[in-house]
Amino acid sequence: MLLPSTFPRFSSLLPLLCFVSILAGVNSDEPELQLLLNLKAALQTSNTTMFDSWNNSNSVCRFNGITCNSRGSVTEMDLSNHMLSGVLPFDSICQLQSLEKLSFGFNSLYGNISNDLSNCVKLKYLDLGNNIFSGTFPDISTLTQLKYLYLNQSGFSGTFPWKSLQNMANLEVLSVGDNPFDLTPFPTEVVKLKNLKWLYMSNCTLGGKIPTGIGNLTELINLEFSDNFISGEIPSEIGKLQNLWQLEMYNNSFTGKLPYGLRNLTKLEFFDASMNNLAGNLSELRFLSNLVSLQLFENEFSGEIPPEFGEFRKLVNLSLYRNSLTGPIPQKIGSWAEFDYIDVSENFLTGLIPPDMCKQGKMHALLVLQNKLTGEIPATYSNCLSLRRFRVSNNSLSGVIPPGIWGLPNAEIIDIELNRLGGSITSDIKNAKTLAQIFASQNLLSGEIPEEISKATSLVTVDLSENQISGKIPTSMGELKQLSSLSLQSNKLFGSIPDSLGSCVSLSDINLSQNSLSEKMPPSLGFLPVLNSLNLSRNELSGEIPASFSRLRLSLFDLSNNKLAGPIPLSLSFQAYNGSLEGNSDLCTMDVDITSLKRCSVRSGNSRHFRTLLVCFSIGLVLLLLYLSLYMQQKKKENYRERSLKEESWDIKSFHVLSFTEDEILDSIKEENLIGKGGSGNVYRVTLSNGKDLAVKHIWNTDSSGRKRSRSSAPMIGKRGVKSKEFDAEVQALSSIRHVNVVKLYCSITSKDSNLLVYEYFPNGSLWDMLHTNKKMELDWETRYEIAVGAAKGLEYLHHGCERPVIHRDVKSSNILLDEFLKPRIADFGLAKIVQANVGKDSTHLVAGTHGYIAPEYGYTYKVNEKIDVYSFGVVLMELVTGKRPIEPEFGEKEDIVNWVCSKVQQENREKIVAMVDSRIADVYREEAMKVMRIAIMCTARVPAVRPTMRSVVHMLEAAEPFKLVGIVVTKDDDSAKKMQVPEAAKLPLDLKN
Ligand SMILES: *[C@@H]1O[C@H](CO)[C@@H](O)[C@H](O)[C@H]1NC(C)=O
Ligand SMILES: *[C@@H]1O[C@H](CO)[C@@H](O)[C@H](O)[C@H]1NC(C)=O
Repeated sequence: MLLPSTFPRFSSLLPLLCFVSILAGVNSDEPELQLLLNLKAALQTSNTTMFDSWNNSNSVCRFNGITCNSRGSVTEMDLSNHMLSGVLPFDSICQLQSLEKLSFGFNSLYGNISNDLSNCVKLKYLDLGNNIFSGTFPDISTLTQLKYLYLNQSGFSGTFPWKSLQNMANLEVLSVGDNPFDLTPFPTEVVKLKNLKWLYMSNCTLGGKIPTGIGNLTELINLEFSDNFISGEIPSEIGKLQNLWQLEMYNNSFTGKLPYGLRNLTKLEFFDASMNNLAGNLSELRFLSNLVSLQLFENEFSGEIPPEFGEFRKLVNLSLYRNSLTGPIPQKIGSWAEFDYIDVSENFLTGLIPPDMCKQGKMHALLVLQNKLTGEIPATYSNCLSLRRFRVSNNSLSGVIPPGIWGLPNAEIIDIELNRLGGSITSDIKNAKTLAQIFASQNLLSGEIPEEISKATSLVTVDLSENQISGKIPTSMGELKQLSSLSLQSNKLFGSIPDSLGSCVSLSDINLSQNSLSEKMPPSLGFLPVLNSLNLSRNELSGEIPASFSRLRLSLFDLSNNKLAGPIPLSLSFQAYNGSLEGNSDLCTMDVDITSLKRCSVRSGNSRHFRTLLVCFSIGLVLLLLYLSLYMQQKKKENYRERSLKEESWDIKSFHVLSFTEDEILDSIKEENLIGKGGSGNVYRVTLSNGKDLAVKHIWNTDSSGRKRSRSSAPMIGKRGVKSKEFDAEVQALSSIRHVNVVKLYCSITSKDSNLLVYEYFPNGSLWDMLHTNKKMELDWETRYEIAVGAAKGLEYLHHGCERPVIHRDVKSSNILLDEFLKPRIADFGLAKIVQANVGKDSTHLVAGTHGYIAPEYGYTYKVNEKIDVYSFGVVLMELVTGKRPIEPEFGEKEDIVNWVCSKVQQENREKIVAMVDSRIADVYREEAMKVMRIAIMCTARVPAVRPTMRSVVHMLEAAEPFKLVGIVVTKDDDSAKKMQVPEAAKLPLDLKN
């Protein structure tokens, strides 16, 4: 027996091995039997039949998964995908003398791989991929026969033993991606493996540059190194890999142009270099006529799309969005194969939409938004029955929109807004059974809204604003039970508002302003259960305000400039809606505190009393003068904007006993202390003289920063005074909040132009940092669970424990700070309200949640209730369970974690469902984590009313405490958890833009 001298450990096993081979001559089965029984004893599986054949009355060669050679020795062991868990006993396994193939892929095996693996010297095939091992992978220099090595997504960390590869001249498959290795430069050992056919090194923390030696690997068919930190240019040597069929390098930091030589990769079918910083034009790709899928989105490519692409006979996927491409889209593109999708959005493309991309009837998505395309929408797409997403918005398209587009039976979104398209919405829309969103504003659409729109029962958003649509609002629209947002403003609609709109129970936003609607407003609108905004201004509505409207609690309520008359219902707290009743000269009030409106005469609310009129007139005059003087003052203030912070006069409002002065804070608001930037302001870290740290949020006052007001907003009297009072009240309320899981707000320091909020400081960063950034630390399930419960309690307190509920509006893992014991604190609560109070109603969009965490209704409504926080918290729970970010490339086109989870759950494949759990969570806790996932799914239900309150979330979480579940009585909430396994969120693509 010839032994490599470099391997002393092996020789120490020599006596044992000799013993084994002597026995083998006598009874070849006995010792191998014992070794395999050892293996069986070390493993657990939920497949009850898997090990049935593994017993000592059977020959090992008849064991399930075992193959022997003619001499009865085990040569192959294939136990992949058998729900195995446990620690592999390589000391036993590698005593199998003739073992050439070892396959344990797709199981839940955990623990470290012992050095004994290096004794399996005859191995040609080793697959440990898709498991949850830990620790570093051991040196395997002795495995010189290896041809196939699969270690992808197996949980290995630290440094991979790249040097081991030096002796493996036969290696054909090397798959080590999806492991959290330490950052390492692209290993040069790899480019010496001349026989490699398949190289998978995506997502394993590689840095550095691609070595030019890559050109040696001329046998390569597949080369993948996406999701790493590789920079520099793509070496031109890559052009030598003429057998390549797939080249994946997305999400790195490549710069420069596509190298000369790429044109030689004529066998290439799949090429993805998206999400890099590549520039230059695409002309090297002209010759790659076998491309099936080309993905280059989010780069800096410029120039024209090569006309040759139009001749690519196999092309089915083309995604070039977010570049700077110019010129036309080749007109024959997609006309050859079963073309699936095009996304060339957000470029500077001109010319026409290619007409034949759906020629084979398979196209799913036509996305060309935000370009400079002209001409008409080709009529061919009227017949594209497979089309789900049709988005051509923000171009210069003209002509009549082909009627059939409205009736596409599988369309989910039709987005044509911001073009010059004419024509009308046709009765074809009755066939649009899956259509959820219509965005058609700012076009030249005319004609009437057809009655048949009621048959498009999946509609959630209808935006036809700023067109020339005339006629009446069809009564049948009352049948749209999913309709949440209806925007018909700035059209030519007339007639009455149908009473049936009150049957659209999901409506949360209605904007019918700037039409010629007349007659009385239907009382039914006052009974809409989730209405958040109602704008009926600038119409010709008459009659009294229905008493039912006083039930509404809206964030936007505007009935101004109509012909409304009579007394305002006493309980209608219209003062909250500044100016919302103006321009209705016949309205009167019976409320003595309201001086801006005429008083109703006691006898007849409608009578026009001359004296009242006179009084109103004088009051109006006084107010006008007051307004003018305030306006002048305001103007003056704006001229002083460029002063430094210190020169302003500051007003400190403290709500705790403070151990610092305002000067101490103001002195520290400078660049070098900046620790964060957000939509609403910057965050600074301030170290006080006593060594204590504080976090200070500097909120800009947009009103005085020259930001444009929305075009319809009339200047409001005394706005400044009212708003800053509101701000103070808001800060006061928030600073009275005391809870262990909520960050303390110490005080606010305000000046005319900006505001500072002073908070407790937490040096450990946020949950986001721990889970997703390189500051991350391993959080075991118990810690994650404690963080979930603590954060839930903080939110519960905000929602239910304060005088009035505080809606956070931006719940996300980066707003959950962790102290030194990893106890969570909710930060930035109520900020939306503060910012809003500070800058006025026009700026509600300033704090609008964070992509990936935003509840679906937030897109449709201004005002929202606590349930938006519950939704976002559900997303945080999903992050904790899966370890994934709310938006990950792997979720596919524009999907988020909620949709991803739901699609997994719908597969009803237990194994796949449990596989969602973060591989960093120990096996024993996976079931526990799934309990929390169930709660997360409830929290992210699409319909807000169906989501649990934070109070019941806390109860449910407490019931899901790891290993304490046995014997817990099933509560009501647990019960509903079972019923609601699949929330509707999964059924509806909720992206509003892109
Ligand atoms: C269990 O293992 C047996 C033997 O390999 C296999 O035929 C069967 O499909 C497995 N059952 C499941 C549920 O995976
Ligand atoms: C990247 O690798 C990690 C393990 O390190 C895995 O959990 C994650 O799913 C991988 N990401 C993708 C996009 O495959």
